[in-house]
Amino acid sequence: MRIAMIGGGYVGLVSGACFAEFGVDVALVEADPARLAALHAGRIPIYEPGLEHLVAENVAAGRLSFGADLTEAVRGVEAVFIAVGTPRGADGHADLSHVFAAVEQVAQALTGYAVIVTKSTVPVGTGRRLAERLRAVRPDLALDVASNPEFLREGSAINDFMRPDRVVIGTRSVRAQEVLRRLYRPLYLIEAPILLTDLETAELTKYAANAFLAMKVTFINEMADLCEKVGADVHDVARGIGLDGRIGRKFLHPGPGFGGSCFPKDTLALMHLAQDAGAPSRLVESVVAVNDARKAAMAERIIQACGGSVQGKQIAVLGLTFKPETDDMRDAPSIPIVTDLCAAGALVRAFDPVGAAQARKVLPQQVEYCRDVMDAATGSDAIVVITEWNEFRAMSPVKLSQAMRGRVVVDLRNIFDPVAMREAGFAYHGVGRPAA
Ligand SMILES: NC(=O)c1ccc[n+]([C@@H]2O[C@H](COP(=O)([O-])OP(=O)(O)OC[C@H]3O[C@@H](n4cnc5c(N)ncnc54)[C@H](O)[C@@H]3O)[C@@H](O)[C@H]2O)c1
Repeated sequence: MRIAMIGGGYVGLVSGACFAEFGVDVALVEADPARLAALHAGRIPIYEPGLEHLVAENVAAGRLSFGADLTEAVRGVEAVFIAVGTPRGADGHADLSHVFAAVEQVAQALTGYAVIVTKSTVPVGTGRRLAERLRAVRPDLALDVASNPEFLREGSAINDFMRPDRVVIGTRSVRAQEVLRRLYRPLYLIEAPILLTDLETAELTKYAANAFLAMKVTFINEMADLCEKVGADVHDVARGIGLDGRIGRKFLHPGPGFGGSCFPKDTLALMHLAQDAGAPSRLVESVVAVNDARKAAMAERIIQACGGSVQGKQIAVLGLTFKPETDDMRDAPSIPIVTDLCAAGALVRAFDPVGAAQARKVLPQQVEYCRDVMDAATGSDAIVVITEWNEFRAMSPVKLSQAMRGRVVVDLRNIFDPVAMREAGFAYHGVGRPAA
């Protein structure tokens, strides 16, 4: 079986490599010359654990190839996956220009039947619009469109793809269903639930899933604020509610507000989609507003912890990416936090295990990037934890305090033990936990 994957980013590269691992021949098309050059040189242009090995193995086995030539890639394939970006558009709607441009090229290039599958997250109705466009451009071919949204998480993307909670396939075409069933056969064998739906349902399911998770995060963040006011511990509250099977324990970790490549743009897109459809979601609207306000308020929280001013103070920022185990900086909470701290006169010395190269593109120029935690901590007045990389958890409070000039720790992920921090002489500020 042969397929083409259009787009070699976090989703296209992982999906392409995993389908190749299933034994499928995958021709991956990437438009960005720098990303493509890296792939040709055997380097992975993004950070995703395990991906380098998986890609190398499948390239060596001759099942995975990379190129810029879409016409060549789609020759003789049974399915073309669209895995290009759908960023936030200027008005908050999803920007579908990459999707339509890619499908236009695919339509011109195809020589026979294929299913065009949107793996990108696209608003409800996109598949139908694509199908209309394909009919107009290629009336000679009976092409099908299917929606197959991707639910992988950066940082554990390969495992998520190989052992998904479910696969959603949205198409009523029996022929397209047959192609996709064959492609996903290894997952049928491990009994992953495969949901067959229509196009619209599959498209909405992806947005609904992200909005629900974003809502859980936002809920526990609000509970954390309340805990701080009333003297409760948000971790115990999260455990107390999360052990209820109806609620579940995941996505109940308080922090500086959600960021990343999906939740911010997808909640916003769903908000607009619902408004346009005449069924506005006040819940999703609130999630967007509460989260935006939270991210914007974090720098002030840090400034207050530093005595009301960071002018001339050296702040060690630990973690910049939107979550651990990725180099993705898209909509990371660190962006408004670091930008505001710099604007308030702080000297920011930051350390992130893999994110510095991406961070340099989006953070203020004056930020200094450090070799490791101790390099960042040395001589600093305060430490701010923004991303909960595992290697930060084991830091010795005593060693940190010996290296620092000041004694303030603002732990926006609650990775440190408040008691140990206070014993080491720190003024420790966590999220949603009472003063020890
Ligand atoms: N990143 C995630 O964790 C994640 C998870 C689930 C779903 N999604 C969705 O998947 C889609 C892709 O996300 P991503 O994070 O992989 O984006 P990305 O920006 O990392 O990758 C997209 C890639 O497509 C390439 N591209 C754009 N137009 C092209 C064209 N015409 N031909 C060839 N290549 C082209 C770009 O150069 C880029 O490398 C989005 O809709 C996103 O919402 C992302």
